[in-house]
Amino acid sequence: MPAGSIEEGLSQAKEIIGKYPREQRFLLAALQDIQKHYNYLPREALALVQEHFSVPMSRLYSMATFYKALTLKPKGKYVIKVCDGTACHIRGSSLLVEELQRLLRIAPGETTTDGKFSLETVNCLGSCAIAPVMVINDQYYGRVTTAAVGKILEDLEAKE
Ligand code: FES
Repeated sequence: MPAGSIEEGLSQAKEIIGKYPREQRFLLAALQDIQKHYNYLPREALALVQEHFSVPMSRLYSMATFYKALTLKPKGKYVIKVCDGTACHIRGSSLLVEELQRLLRIAPGETTTDGKFSLETVNCLGSCAIAPVMVINDQYYGRVTTAAVGKILEDLEAKE
């Protein structure tokens, strides 16, 4: 499903939440669906979740901060995840992170001001054979070199 924006209104959020019975065991699934649609958890959508599941907002915030897949801040159009698991670390993943920080002028956990790129470091992505690994949205890049990082970003910019 393509990412929506909160400006489109909350009809999508209402529809997503409405699919779930008002039982708390569906809370996480509902939050994940909202995250998937908006690329983050808009405050207005959380208010709808709170009402639907009758849970305190504090619980929703603690879930949003506990689960790495959930975020309270909008993410960039391209979410770059650099694996920092053992195999990738040994093969220089920290150099890739440094290069990305230099090129994008953001630290891991941040998003560029134009909203294009978010940078994250993650644990093993299960592709150690092609370490170091980087994932941009759903696209995997293996045996990435610092030189390749610039080219990959250029290609994405060219698509715009
Ligand atoms: S350690 Fe990076 S893919 Fe496994």
